[in-house]
Amino acid sequence: MRNLKLSASVFPGIIFFSCLLLYLYSTLLPFYTHSPTESHISLTPSTPAFSPSPPQCNLFHGNWVEDPSHEPFYDETCPFHRNAWNCLRNKRDNMGPINSWRWVPSGCDFPRIDPVGFLGLMRNRRIGFVGDSLNENFLTSFLCILRVADAGAKRWKRKGAWRGAYFPKFNVTVAYHRAVLLAKYEWQPKQSAPSDQDGREGIYRVNVDTPADDWVNITDFYDVLIFNTGHWWGPDKFPKEKPLVFYEAGKPILPLLGMHDGFKVVLKNMVSYIQKKVPSKTLKFWRLQSPRHFYGGDWNQNGSCLFDKPLEESQLDLWFDPSNNGVNKEARQLNLLIEEALQGTDIQVLDLTHLSEFRADAHPSIWLGKKDAVAEWGQDCMHWCLPGVPDTWVDILSEEIRYRLDSRQDFD
Ligand SMILES: *[C@@H]1O[C@H](CO)[C@@H](O)[C@H](O)[C@H]1NC(C)=O
Ligand SMILES: *[C@@H]1O[C@H](CO)[C@@H](O)[C@H](O)[C@H]1NC(C)=O
Ligand SMILES: *[C@@H]1O[C@H](CO)[C@@H](O)[C@H](O)[C@H]1NC(C)=O
Repeated sequence: MRNLKLSASVFPGIIFFSCLLLYLYSTLLPFYTHSPTESHISLTPSTPAFSPSPPQCNLFHGNWVEDPSHEPFYDETCPFHRNAWNCLRNKRDNMGPINSWRWVPSGCDFPRIDPVGFLGLMRNRRIGFVGDSLNENFLTSFLCILRVADAGAKRWKRKGAWRGAYFPKFNVTVAYHRAVLLAKYEWQPKQSAPSDQDGREGIYRVNVDTPADDWVNITDFYDVLIFNTGHWWGPDKFPKEKPLVFYEAGKPILPLLGMHDGFKVVLKNMVSYIQKKVPSKTLKFWRLQSPRHFYGGDWNQNGSCLFDKPLEESQLDLWFDPSNNGVNKEARQLNLLIEEALQGTDIQVLDLTHLSEFRADAHPSIWLGKKDAVAEWGQDCMHWCLPGVPDTWVDILSEEIRYRLDSRQDFD
């Protein structure tokens, strides 16, 4: 890797040169046609103009701009799709418009992922996602995009992975470990006498200090890890009759913790496990909450998301600010707790919440590929259509990885 430690005297020159490159690039850009395989400036360390150097270039703030030349990298034939998110196959309306919006961070442009360049950079390395189905949604997009660079990609499912793929051309593995609460939890049916009238069927025992089996032993297997949890922390998944009960060192924590406090304790313990067990040279990311877009009611109250364009920035607070008490307010609430738990760690925050908040138009909604799925489960205004918004998450993640690899020498 190139040595990027620059002496003070060359810095102004580099900055000037970068601005010049950026200017030239933006002037020339309109003359190139945009097609998924040809439009990328190759992401080598010799293009300093595109190294995001936070905070000048914050990839998480910006706007969605309509760009009809913007095309997805993959279609419904990608073998890594999950049926319910394969919106092209499920004939979802508006898939053209959904994918014609391009995320433009304010103050800087950033390139889409270059699958060949990225896999080349990751040669002989492994990337792991750990968390809930929104991280699986993210992984699915990633696999379908990377496959563009290696059609020989094969399914990979080892080491407790739920699913993943191996890219033989580059010897790269990308996989997802399902651990919805991150901590280990198990169902314990009620043992007590029928005279017990509390209405409980049992409890879910959460061992706050024990990572779930699915990822407890993979901490030094991956070179890059992306964590998340949050979407299961609500009464939908764990109602009163089947509550979470939090245990520490084998004993229930007393007084019993509510979901919110239990979330904090689990975060604290999982973050400290990661800090202790994951080698410091491993790149660690934590993805903030993916916002839901249920309109007119929650998922089980006929809430819908039949929008044909992104929300306006001025609408976001009304939807998501907890003080407005809307049905989708939990994303920002949980983010506060997550950011607090990550303070002072070497885990990088992937704040994909804000950019995703705009995209009320891009969920599977009623197009779930299965008869009666809507009647049974309601619309899906939580996961994302693929191709779709997670493709932008991939652009950002790959750029963050590239930037961090470029700026360190201990990653070999
Ligand atoms: C492939 O990558 C793994 C690490 O991800 C490494 O251990 C292995 O030696 C590599 N294989 C080859 C043939 O380079
Ligand atoms: C993880 O590794 C430890 C130590 O080798 C072992 O005792 C434990 O059974 C492993 N856990 C899982 C879930 O594989
Ligand atoms: C949802 O819509 C169905 C059909 O229109 C209706 O029967 C049902 O009562 C609605 N449920 C709620 C919670 O509004």
